[in-house]
Formats: sequence, structure tokens, C-alpha cells
Amino acid sequence: MLTRRELALAAAAAGLAGCAPAYTPATFPAVQSRQFPRDFIWGVATSAFQTEGALNVDGRGPSIWDVFPREKIADRSDAAVADDSYHRYREDVALLQGLAAKAYRFSIAWPRVVPAGAGAINQKGVDFYSRLVDAQLEKRITPYATLFHWDLPLALQQQHGGWANRDTARRFAEYANIVATRLGDRVKHFCILNEPSVHVFAGHVLGIHAPGLTDANLIGPVTHHLNLAQGLAIQALRAARSDLTIGTTLAITPSRPAHDGIAPLNEAAAKGFDAVWNGAFLDPLLKGLYPAQARGFIEPQLRAGDMEVIRQPVDFIGANYYAPAYLRFDLMSQAHIAPSDPPPNTARDAFNREIDPAGMWQILKRLREEYGNPSVLITENGCSDPFSDDPAIQDDRFRIDYLRRHLEAVKSAMEAGSRVAGYFHWTLIDNWEWAEGYRSKFGFVSQDRASSLRATKASYSWFKALAMTGRLNEAQA
Ligand code: FCB
Repeated sequence: MLTRRELALAAAAAGLAGCAPAYTPATFPAVQSRQFPRDFIWGVATSAFQTEGALNVDGRGPSIWDVFPREKIADRSDAAVADDSYHRYREDVALLQGLAAKAYRFSIAWPRVVPAGAGAINQKGVDFYSRLVDAQLEKRITPYATLFHWDLPLALQQQHGGWANRDTARRFAEYANIVATRLGDRVKHFCILNEPSVHVFAGHVLGIHAPGLTDANLIGPVTHHLNLAQGLAIQALRAARSDLTIGTTLAITPSRPAHDGIAPLNEAAAKGFDAVWNGAFLDPLLKGLYPAQARGFIEPQLRAGDMEVIRQPVDFIGANYYAPAYLRFDLMSQAHIAPSDPPPNTARDAFNREIDPAGMWQILKRLREEYGNPSVLITENGCSDPFSDDPAIQDDRFRIDYLRRHLEAVKSAMEAGSRVAGYFHWTLIDNWEWAEGYRSKFGFVSQDRASSLRATKASYSWFKALAMTGRLNEAQA
């Protein structure tokens, strides 16, 4: 086999190297009007494991995240308390009301409702979500419930192999039916999955999320079974009730070739990544097939009739956007693809992720042009505070600037024809940010972890004015 250096030399000799185009940041047309439609849905998004705490309370079963090693979390923390939202959910809803939010995207913890993933139902878990939903409805906030935000019941992982096992899809549909029959009289909006591609790669290939596996051979089965689970769950919800609005949330990420290195090979890496990260979830749902580049390793899982189950009509596509991904050719990795840094001198957030509102515009353009212009909800967008306990961070002008620029991109795409029905900010209160623990803070509201005292940041008031008027203000000079 050629060494990396030999390959680079060979490519250079063939005239492939050094042809990276000069980097020009992507742009989008300036907005014509800063006024969003009157019925635009202004909301906020959270997830159960990141906010609820109360992991061993009222019969909740353990999830794969309960046993994820603390050594793998940046601050060695766990989510035992998180935002204590299991007990303080009324405070959360009061904060939503104070924000003039019209909708709240929260997730239901499967192990709270069905502790072992299948079998006995935990009535106290159902009761909790029932109270949470009623509290929202009392304040005229529309609940949007996500059914799977990564907290798989541990028993399904340990005894059945989790999403690598086709049966998990069937069990997920049973759980979806339980939710629809218990809560569907009041919850009318559902997101089936949250960012399945992150769960596939961070959880099963990179091992940085639960279940902490590092096996690229799992990409095919886990991807296909998540798609199948989604299709079966949509069928189960629709069978239980005919009055539901159903969509799913995907991490739709612009995949760009790394700026340095061998341009054509980086281009191929970006295309390959796009196929398994974006296409492997968008295409079967909206086109009824897997992208050509993903077929080799996904289709061995495919059984007759699967694609018909997966290709369910949906009422909206939930799009989460934070930043684009840069990919480079990597001879040493299994798939010859490796993540790379954004081009030099680009603006970054505290996560070192590029701040690029044009990426938001691009994903909306892509949904419009390649996927039949479905109705879209931006189900997550936001940025983290810098890693600091400086109280001055309450004056989070950088977040206001980030949101304003991303919302300009959303509005510009709408003016070009995208059917965007709403925008959910990630997130309400600083919470337990997976592998980053409590270091990373995405909230409109901070919380003092010792006293649990919550305090609104400047962005909270800014968003409230936006939610009330629908008018996106100009940047202050
Ligand atoms: C998304 C996740 C969400 C949160 C934000 C910051 O990828 O869906 O739970 O971690 O990133």
C-alpha cells in the first residue's frame, strides 16, 4: 500500500494537488423584508435527558446515557440533576410564556414511559408528560413532542443490541402507539426522531456518545433500522389518531471539501459524507431510495416492503442547523474520509464551529430544489456561550447576532420560495450538553447549578420582542 506521502506525491505529479480554489465565503441574497408571516411559529427546543434529571425517580428505567462513562464527558459530570425540569417543569413553562413562545419542542424519554423498552408501561412516567403537556396548553403553548432524542432504554441495548437489531424498530412503534393513545388527545404535533445521523456516527462509530461503540460496520444496520423505526412509528401514530401533524428532525449539514489537501479527493470525501449523513435519511423518506453511495452497506439490511414502510408522507421536515462540515480525503481511515477544520479566518463559536448563516440558506435551498420543497420547521439552531463562568455572559450579544444572521438566512430562503413554517431555538435553559457536560451553554436562560436559580440573558428579551412582533431587527451599530 502507498504511504500517505507517496500518495500525495503521486497526486501532485498527476496535477491534482494545489488546485484548491481560493476560499470565498458562501453568501445569500439580502432579505427584502424583515417581517415574518403572522402565523410563523416561534418556539424553543429541549430534550428529556439534557433537562429532566430525576433519572431514578417514579419508575423511570435506565437509558444508554445513564451508564455512559463520566470519563468521556468533558467536565466528568452526569445528568442526574440537569435542569431538574422533572420537578421544575412549571418554571420552564412560565419561562416559555415570558418568552412569548408559541410552541415547545421537548422530548419524551422512552425509558420513562416503557422502562425496559418493551412490555410494562410506567404510568407515573406517562403522568409526568401529561402534566407537562397540560401546563403548556394552559398557557396556549403548542406541544411538539419528539419520540427519540437518543435516550434508548438500556435493556434494549444490553439484551438486544439496540438499533443494530431490527426488532428495536418494532418496539419503537409499540412505544409510539402508547404515546399516541395516552397523550394524542392533547399532543397533536410529533417529531419522530432527533438527528439520527448524529446518533449513528457519534454513538456507534466514534464512540463519543452513548452507546459508545466504535464499529463502522454498524452504520448500515443502525441507519436502516432507525429509518424503519421512523416509518413504523408514523404508521402507528396515524393508526391511533387521524388528527396528528407528524414530521421528523434531521441534522441537515452542508458537506464541504476541506480547503487544504488534494481538492478532487476532498470533493469525493465530502460527497461520500453527504450520502451517509444527509442522503441516507432524506432520500429514503422523501424519494423512496438510498443514495447510490450508501447502497453498498445499507442495502444488505433491506427486506421486501421496507422502503414502502420508510417512505411515509410527512407533514414537515424538521431541520437542525448549527454549522457546515468540512471533509478531507484520509487514506488511513476505514472510509477514507476524515473531518477537517473550516478554512482559516472564518468566524467560530465557543465550540470552534464555523458560524456560517449561508449554510442555513443552502440546506433550505436544497430541500426546495432536490426534495420537492416540503414544509420545513427549523427544529434547532443556536450557539454556545464561551467556556467561562463570567457573569457578563448574561449580556450575550454574540448569541443575538448569531440568531439574527441565521434568521436572515431563513427569511431570505423563504423569499426564494422555501416553505418554512417555524423556528425553534436551541435551547431554553443552559443544560447538560452530552459529551460537553455543563461546560457548553446554549440557553436563553442560565442556571446557577448550586442554587438552581435561573436568570434570563439578554437574548431572552431579544427573542421575546421577535416572537411578539415577527419583526427581525437590524444589527445595532
Ligand atoms: C444538537 C442536539 C441537541 C443539542 C444541540 C446543541 O445536535 O440535537 O440535543 O446537543 O445539538
